[in-house]
Amino acid sequence: MNKQASRGFRHSTLALSGAIALALGAGAVTSLPAQARQRVDSTGVPASNPALVTPAIEKKVDALVDKMTLKEKLGQLVQYNDVGASAPTAANGDKAIADNPEANNNVDPLQLAANGGMGSMLNVVGAKKTNRFQRAAVEKSRLHIPLLFGADIIHGYRTIYPVPLGLAASWDPSMVQQVSHMAANEATTAGIRWFYSPMVDIARDARWGRAVEGAGEDPYLGAAMARAYIRGYQGKDLSKPYNVAASVKHFAAYGAAEAGREYNTTDMSDIRLRQVYLPPYKAAVKAGAATIMSAFNALNGVPATADPYLLTDILRKEWGFDGFVVSDYTAVKELMNHGIALTPAEATRKAIEAGTDVDMMSHFYDSQLPTLIKQGKVPMSVVDEAVRRVLRVKFALGLFQHPYARGTEVTHAVKAHLPLVRKAAEQSFVLLQNKKVGSAPVLPLSDKTKSIAVIGPLGDAAGEMVGAWSGAPNVNEIVTVRKALKARMDKAGGHLYYAKGTDIQGDSTAGFAAAKQAAEKADVVVMALGESGKMSGEAAARAHLDLPGNQLALLKAVQATGKPIVLLVFSGRPLVLDWSAKHVPAIMETWFPGTEAGSAIANVLFGNVSPSGKLPMSFPRAVGQEPLYYNQFPTGRPANGADAKPPEGAAKYVSRYIDVRNTALFPFGYGLTYSSFKFSNVKVSRQHVPLSQANVKGAKNLVTVTATLTNTGKREATEVAQLYVRNRGASVEQPVRSLKGFERVTLKPGQSKQLTFHLGFHELSFVNTHSKWVVEPTDYTVWVGGSSLAKQSAHFNVTH
Ligand code: BGC
Repeated sequence: MNKQASRGFRHSTLALSGAIALALGAGAVTSLPAQARQRVDSTGVPASNPALVTPAIEKKVDALVDKMTLKEKLGQLVQYNDVGASAPTAANGDKAIADNPEANNNVDPLQLAANGGMGSMLNVVGAKKTNRFQRAAVEKSRLHIPLLFGADIIHGYRTIYPVPLGLAASWDPSMVQQVSHMAANEATTAGIRWFYSPMVDIARDARWGRAVEGAGEDPYLGAAMARAYIRGYQGKDLSKPYNVAASVKHFAAYGAAEAGREYNTTDMSDIRLRQVYLPPYKAAVKAGAATIMSAFNALNGVPATADPYLLTDILRKEWGFDGFVVSDYTAVKELMNHGIALTPAEATRKAIEAGTDVDMMSHFYDSQLPTLIKQGKVPMSVVDEAVRRVLRVKFALGLFQHPYARGTEVTHAVKAHLPLVRKAAEQSFVLLQNKKVGSAPVLPLSDKTKSIAVIGPLGDAAGEMVGAWSGAPNVNEIVTVRKALKARMDKAGGHLYYAKGTDIQGDSTAGFAAAKQAAEKADVVVMALGESGKMSGEAAARAHLDLPGNQLALLKAVQATGKPIVLLVFSGRPLVLDWSAKHVPAIMETWFPGTEAGSAIANVLFGNVSPSGKLPMSFPRAVGQEPLYYNQFPTGRPANGADAKPPEGAAKYVSRYIDVRNTALFPFGYGLTYSSFKFSNVKVSRQHVPLSQANVKGAKNLVTVTATLTNTGKREATEVAQLYVRNRGASVEQPVRSLKGFERVTLKPGQSKQLTFHLGFHELSFVNTHSKWVVEPTDYTVWVGGSSLAKQSAHFNVTH
């Protein structure tokens, strides 16, 4: 089945009419009342989002469920896209089945909407379309229950900001909240009230293409980003028509796919699951996420979509989740491929009983449940509970009051949103290297630069600048590197030369000569190399992590001219940049920056803005190091100082490779700027913490860590101060260090700031062999610095 043909926002043809500026709502923070209401279903755990289970909503849900037929109930539990919908002009019942009729089981979704046989739709683009389906549901169906339109709005709707991995590199949750709010603001004008975002899967393996959609390898940073997305999407009040319900995905541990291969199985201890993979999902649920998407993968032998441990025990009973769970695309059907269901009926029973409430595109729940219920194999109460969960979200969204697309539809990048997405892009870039050529580092470029050569297949590729899962941008509104630098050079009376050099993939060298000529003519060369947008995202695992195609050969050819080179790397994942690191003076990772790509890059290259991004994922020296992540468990034979490549390295029988160093080429948390920073005076508020105080769930501020940060350079710049913790002596071994705090700090030259981090139970605890978060009497080391290699440390312990 060709599901891609029936989705893809990227391929939509978009009407070009007047743009509209939307004002951003100020500081949309979701804060749940302290005295969170007890859940109605008697688990005793406080509701994750009390707004979903108010007495008023419960009353409405009860009244509606009482009136519903089985068919209407099942309708709420299935989801279709718009393939095969009757053409607006078609005669009664006359189906105009589009390119992929089997995607919708040859059913006409418009008729389903009118019959109350469908509760939600996915990836329907444009207000005209969503309103048409909505009218059928609201005006024609018996109970007038509105549809919920969901879509993969991952990093912007019309105005596109950096891919999520790039956003994570900003280490700026408040900015992530603002851009998320902006995307909701735009997409709701097309009738979309549900985003299949954020993807909060931890990604420790750069081969996995979906690393681009998440916040990288660290649970603490991942949790901070997860909260920011939920606050941005859902706002303070979900019922406002400019807010959307989030769908946190993919629950759970999808990012741990073996060998980085898409959709592959995952297998891990409960300790690793809870300590590394679950924290971002939990943070999102606790921030009030209205829905969750179950993952495709199996975890420890049980496909997530049919796993009661994940979907009921952890999600609902432990975390108090009150929203609904939607399966991933055809994941219910895929239970048969997993081999845990031999029939559609069995797949259906296992999925719904485990806690998957809505079936996305398998079309099993509506076809299988009537018989399963009749046979007594699935109790009616299970169906009713799933329906109630869906209706709660619909009421909480205020869909019954305002079911249609909001206001004037946004069909263009919104002018008023450009400064924000430009700032997000600037903050996402990570300066990996900036060596001197002559007496000064290559970057920032001097205002006196008279000529620049932009070389590479990504130098003028507007469509690529938005990367994977890029909403519905208009390509002609995207600023390329060539365009932005040309504008600068024109203004300064200089020259901009451009040569594509080669394709992103392929082995042609036909453009090399022109590229070299362009380089020869210029003062400085800006090379724009990397992946295409499609080389990351879903179903885009790579076994090689080099610059694709002939791009390294192009780089070598241009480097041979001897001109200073700034290498811009566009990618949805860490790449192997070992040759470049040795031979190219300046390298900046730019991910996929979005609509304002070129303008943001020009601002940073010329030093109007100093780079401030830090890597959210480790960049390997060789693909064979993957999965590579900084917060590893120790080994009995650590490589301690034997990191140099043999034969210089001392010991042989230690945990190392014989042909490459263990360490990352560019580690987690790393990133340079145009100034320099010094960390000093790292201190802890006390040396001993009594266990009776520390091992108390929710205990706050057990130890305060302070440090001084000084801008020792010549420019104003931003440093991301990072706090790492390790403890030794516990009943289970702990990572060699773990991020437990961070803060973006902007300082003028010579200026200092006192940093303060508070460590409480949340930061000091770990998961024991009984799957419980605990603090034990152990020794703690804390480090404060500008990357995961932070050197300044202090110590304390927890004692009986
Ligand atoms: C992806 C999800 C996405 C869904 C709907 C699936 O293939 O895994 O992330 O939300 O399709 O488009």
